Amino acid sequence: MIEYESIGSNLILPYLMAESLDKNFFKIKDEFKNWMDNYAKVYQTNHRSNVNGFQSPDDFYMEKGFSPFLNYMSERILDLVDEFKLNEESSINCIPRLSNMWFNINYTGSYNTAHTHPGSILAGVLYVDVPKDSGDIQFSHHDFHNLTLVQHTDMTIEPVDGMMLLFPSSLQHSVDVNCSDKSRYSIAFNLYEYYEEDGARREWPSDSDG
Ligand SMILES: [Fe+2]
Repeated sequence: MIEYESIGSNLILPYLMAESLDKNFFKIKDEFKNWMDNYAKVYQTNHRSNVNGFQSPDDFYMEKGFSPFLNYMSERILDLVDEFKLNEESSINCIPRLSNMWFNINYTGSYNTAHTHPGSILAGVLYVDVPKDSGDIQFSHHDFHNLTLVQHTDMTIEPVDGMMLLFPSSLQHSVDVNCSDKSRYSIAFNLYEYYEEDGARREWPSDSDG
């Protein structure tokens, strides 16, 4: 018989996710929406995960007019990062830096195909205006060959206005078809660990580049 020094097993899934909800978001929701609508009138849409909607370039947030909204988001993102790091399951021990940010306006019939966010460690989203039936977000991990102890492979979140989510960038997700007659507004972002060439950690947020 083999005599082990130690033997054990641990559940390594599901993923960790942090979530916050600003109950006063209704006070600033229209300002966000107006800014996003005006931007979408001027700029061409990107075609990444979004189908039939508007997806901004991922440097849109560098626009001067967005800075009050960026300040608001930065504060909330940092709070969520702290919350994420507080969880004993978290492996994040750095100060992640914003690497890019983009927004989606999903018109009636729009949706986002399944994707991950390569090149970052954490991904997140702020829900600005998500009318009923305008599209839940679906999370899934597809390690179908290893279902041991994993109770769920998919999870649905029905977002609400003012909700912010933070999750590992490697976690695959998609957005359901907008079946309402109103548009769905959301702002997504990526974070990654960043060091200067001398090894010093860079301050958050960077105001010099994306
Ligand atoms: Fe995404």
